[in-house]
Amino acid sequence: LQQVLPMQLAFKYFDLFPEEKEPIWQNPCSYKRHIEIWATSKDCNRLPKFLVIGPQKTGTTALYTFLAMHPAIMSNYPSPETFEEVQFFNGKNYIKGLDWYMEFFPIPNNATSDFLFEKSATYFDNERVPMRAHALLPKAKIICILINPAKRAYSWYQHMKSHQDATALNYTFYEVITATEDAPSSLLDLKARCLQPGLYVQHLLRWLDYFPTRQLFIIDGEQLRSDPVLTMTHVQRFLHIQPLYNYSQSLRYDPKKGFFCQVVSEEKNKCLGRGKGRVYLPMEPASDEYLRQYYKQDNIALSKLLLRLNHRVPQWLQEELRN
Ligand code: A3P
Repeated sequence: LQQVLPMQLAFKYFDLFPEEKEPIWQNPCSYKRHIEIWATSKDCNRLPKFLVIGPQKTGTTALYTFLAMHPAIMSNYPSPETFEEVQFFNGKNYIKGLDWYMEFFPIPNNATSDFLFEKSATYFDNERVPMRAHALLPKAKIICILINPAKRAYSWYQHMKSHQDATALNYTFYEVITATEDAPSSLLDLKARCLQPGLYVQHLLRWLDYFPTRQLFIIDGEQLRSDPVLTMTHVQRFLHIQPLYNYSQSLRYDPKKGFFCQVVSEEKNKCLGRGKGRVYLPMEPASDEYLRQYYKQDNIALSKLLLRLNHRVPQWLQEELRN
């Protein structure tokens, strides 16, 4: 038998089990022994009932805004760094722990009828997020939005350009998406951020490794854009929210913005900021054709998956496959 100092023992342990170096947060209220030692001031109801996971540029801010208008739905408090997104399950925030996460949520007045949620569009395509989200929130419902992945890629490129990203300013969209392995790393990074989130089926399958199909809802982003009132009814039905809130009085098409906005008064609408619904030139045909081929197999697999899961195949996907 040998005696070693606690720190040495810890190093030895993590040498043997490196996969345990990072904690995995679980809900303390799921375990009798944990809840007994947890401070009485803490409240397990201060956790989201559902997550909007993205991906980026599919209309996640519009959905977040519309959800937050609902009398029974409460969003997280904004983060000083990442604004409306908490971004807990991905990246460096996860290590900050459960208390850090829970501080973002109000204490619900009625834990049964109040719906807390958060939207972090970076969750969708992050490899670790489904496992981590499931460990803490196994019963949470998961909502994602899908638009044509080619359109999503182009929107991301335009987003980076308007944020004065040097690579997006220096290269055309076609140059970005067709960059080869010998290209500068900044170009390859931008290419990956344009293209990878759009490999929808691969990311969805990862979520389905952890969450059952009945907990997953896929919104057609084109429908959210053209008919948000109907889309919000579908979302409420999926969440089992009663009574249904009728969005037809609170959302109205704004011809100047070209999108649906929140009704403020008879003449006034509150639309999303300039960064949402940007005006830019349409994608050139060469990029369009390249991306159609690039996403072809993945889109076919996506439609098969949606049919298998009994989910509706969105119009944009049906058209893409016909093409
Ligand atoms: P574009 O700015 O490229 O048109 P996200 O919030 O996930 O970043 O998505 C931004 C996209 O949401 C916008 O991309 C826009 O097309 C889409 N969108 C959908 N409904 C919208 C709405 N009511 N107002 C503004 N943008 C909306």
